Parts: sequence; structure tokens; C-alpha cells
Amino acid sequence: MGNTLKLEDLLKPDCVPDESAGGENWRILHGDTLKLVKGFQPGIFDAVITDPPYASGGTKQNERNRTTNQKYSSMKAENALPDFDGDNKDQRSWTHWMAEWLYDVRKACKRGAPICLFIDWRQYPSITDALQWAGWIWRGTAVWDKGNSRPQKGRFRQQAEYIVWGSNGPMPINRPVSCLPGVFRYGNPQNRIHVTEKPLQLMKDVIQICEPGGLILDPFAGAGTTILAAAESGFQAVGIEVTDAYYKLGSDRVRIALEAGEEAENKEPQ
Ligand SMILES: C[S@@+](CC[C@H](N)C(=O)[O-])C[C@H]1O[C@@H](n2cnc3c(N)ncnc32)[C@H](O)[C@@H]1O
Repeated sequence: MGNTLKLEDLLKPDCVPDESAGGENWRILHGDTLKLVKGFQPGIFDAVITDPPYASGGTKQNERNRTTNQKYSSMKAENALPDFDGDNKDQRSWTHWMAEWLYDVRKACKRGAPICLFIDWRQYPSITDALQWAGWIWRGTAVWDKGNSRPQKGRFRQQAEYIVWGSNGPMPINRPVSCLPGVFRYGNPQNRIHVTEKPLQLMKDVIQICEPGGLILDPFAGAGTTILAAAESGFQAVGIEVTDAYYKLGSDRVRIALEAGEEAENKEPQ
């Protein structure tokens, strides 16, 4: 039997999200991570698993200032998904911003809690700096091999993204977590509802770094992929999402998928 995550168990009394949605074992807060992470009760999370805005998509600032659809999607304008916020910072501002929320989020985590951050090759050096500035121990990098990407004559294909991972202080070897792979091979999801949505099975694999049944935070929830993966795998999860359209799309997606799963379970012959 699960547990409905109550706002008062997660947040200090003076911290109120714009709104929130949730059910058994999950909750998504609508608001800005920079502000909300300061308001979490200390030491409540067992892991942080997240895919922040990369503020990438080009080597020059004018390329990085394009919309998220222009940068990350090849869909025709008439089928375009909503753009998302927070993706236009330059390298210095992005690194500073990352370090700031990473510092605050560490206080909301238990000692030894793991953290996993998705990133591309351009922001890889900056994210490892930000993680360590914020006081986390950087422990390594796993690879998400997407399989396909544009071939480039005379160059290597950019067919991978990276999962920079670490921990909040020492990470005991005797945690009840098995050996995990260092490379994950999944194509981009078909019929996605978010411009940079991650495959659900990829997130189900990555969250295994958390102790069974633990409370996971995804401060950049997007379409709710981490939250859904967690709730379907016996974890508890809290997300934060600032873009209005994705707060709505993500929380509806998680609710509908979990209700459908429950319905299917109830229909199974006894
Ligand atoms: C890379 S996407 C995450 C996609 C997600 N992993 C999925 O599978 O759908 C990053 C998300 O962070 C959100 N975001 C950007 N800045 C934010 C902030 N300051 N606070 C909360 N969410 C933010 C964006 O709106 C976007 O939806």
C-alpha cells in the first residue's frame, strides 16, 4: 500500500508552490526549482535523478538563444511541442545557476544519497564543475547511447548523452543496490509529448541507483518521465516543473498512466 506525499511533509511552512498535483507515491510541484529547493525539509530525499535544461544546442550564443524546438526538435512547426523555459543561459550563468540549486538540493538529501544528472558533450565540463562546487562527490559518468544521430563526414557521430553521477558524501558499499551497467542503449521515444523527453525504460534503469522504495527528487520533471518510472517501480517521487504547459502535460501523463496500470491490475483474473 503506497503513501500520498503531503506538501507539509516535503516543504517548510513558508514555502508554497504555485500549485501541485499528485497521487499515491508521487507529487509534481509547479514552480521554480531555484526557489522551491530552498524550502524542502532537510535530509528527506534518497536520490536526485534529473535532466536539467542543457542551455546547449550550439557553440555560439546566438545559436544557444534559439527556442528549444529550434535547437532540439526536427518536428514541423505545425506539430511542434511547447517550448520550455530556462534554456538560454550562457556558459557562465548556467554553471553558476546549476551550482546554486545543486547546493540547496544537497541539504534536502540524506547523507550518501546518489545524484544523476543528464547532460550533452558541450556542457559536460561545466556540469562536473557545478556538481563539485555544490559539495557533491563526483563519482563517474554513465552513457546513454541513443543509437541514431546525424552522420557527420570526417567526424564522430554525437550519438550519446551522459549521466554524470555522484553522492552526498561517502556512499556506503553495502547499500541494498546491485551492480548497475555503465551504458544504456535506448532510442529516443516515439510519440513524445516533451521536446527532450527521455525514454521511460531508460529512467527505470537509471533510478535503480536509489535504494528500493526510496524517495527520489527530479527538479526538472518535464513530461514526468522520472516520476512515472519511479512510481511504476515501487519508489516514491517528487518533481518540480516551471513551464506551465509541461507542468500540466507531465502531471496528467503520470496520473493517467498510473490509473491505467491500476485498472489493468484489477482486471487480471484471480
Ligand atoms: C530537459 S527537460 C526535462 C525532460 C524530462 N526528463 C522528460 O523526460 O520529459 C528540462 C525541464 O526543466 C524545466 N525547467 C527549466 N527551468 C526550470 C526551473 N528553474 N525550475 C523548474 N523547472 C525548470 C523545463 O521547463 C523543462 O521541462
